[in-house]
Amino acid sequence: MHNCLLLLAALVFLPFTVGQAPFDLYKLSLRWPPSECNIGQLKCTPTVLNYWVIHGIWPTYENNTAVPQYDKTKNSCAHNPTKENQIKAKLSSIKNTLTQFWPSLRNYAKDKTNLKDWIHEWKFHGQCSDYPTDPLSYFNSALSLRRKNDLAGTRIQPREEPYQAKEIVDAVKQILGATPEITCNTHRPSGMIQLREVRMCFKRAKPPTEPRDCPIQFSGTCNKESDHIRVPPAPSPGHSQVPWLPINIFLLAFCLGIVI
Ligand SMILES: *[C@@H]1O[C@H](CO)[C@@H](O)[C@H](O)[C@H]1NC(C)=O
Repeated sequence: MHNCLLLLAALVFLPFTVGQAPFDLYKLSLRWPPSECNIGQLKCTPTVLNYWVIHGIWPTYENNTAVPQYDKTKNSCAHNPTKENQIKAKLSSIKNTLTQFWPSLRNYAKDKTNLKDWIHEWKFHGQCSDYPTDPLSYFNSALSLRRKNDLAGTRIQPREEPYQAKEIVDAVKQILGATPEITCNTHRPSGMIQLREVRMCFKRAKPPTEPRDCPIQFSGTCNKESDHIRVPPAPSPGHSQVPWLPINIFLLAFCLGIVI
């Protein structure tokens, strides 16, 4: 009888020990392309976008660790999550919206490059979300949260002069109603700290809608409210001389023509 109860207990709890601990929140990560593209690690083509784009939406534990990616034997968080080779078909109805708001910074003009990023996010964060077999709803949840918490209208406008970290936090708080996580990188030539990502946290729900404070307030190369953080403007298209080349040649030819 005793053994039988033990066996029963083992059968009940086994699935939980093999799977993962339940996660607590979703972290929506929004990136500022000019800061990602001016540190020499990414060659952003065809242009550096000058609006906030989605990096991902990540199932996260209270201790700020992201849920580890799906692994059939080690991390079977879901029964049979949608495989990566189905992502293209599953997202076809929202491809244009994703291309605009969830673009690959490497080359947003190429479907293949964008798809590669979406597949990466699905494998690392989507398969163990609350949508293991519904990538369309998973990606839509991020699009919808970005739309509802648009950073475009806040005080954080790109400019040469840095902001105090607290100003950035407060500006996000004003639209979100909760404390975000601010992630920075450092622009090497100038040594300036830059705003790289704003991360917004939401209570775990399907779909996530209710904001909550993020487990940490700063990450990357900023760590306190008094830090000075630059929000760099996108390089102006005028900096690229290539489009003007044909006109210059035309003018040169024209002038030469007049002289001759
Ligand atoms: C964070 O919490 C999860 C779930 O409880 C646990 O699996 C993981 O090991 C923890 N990570 C750290 C760094 O403490």
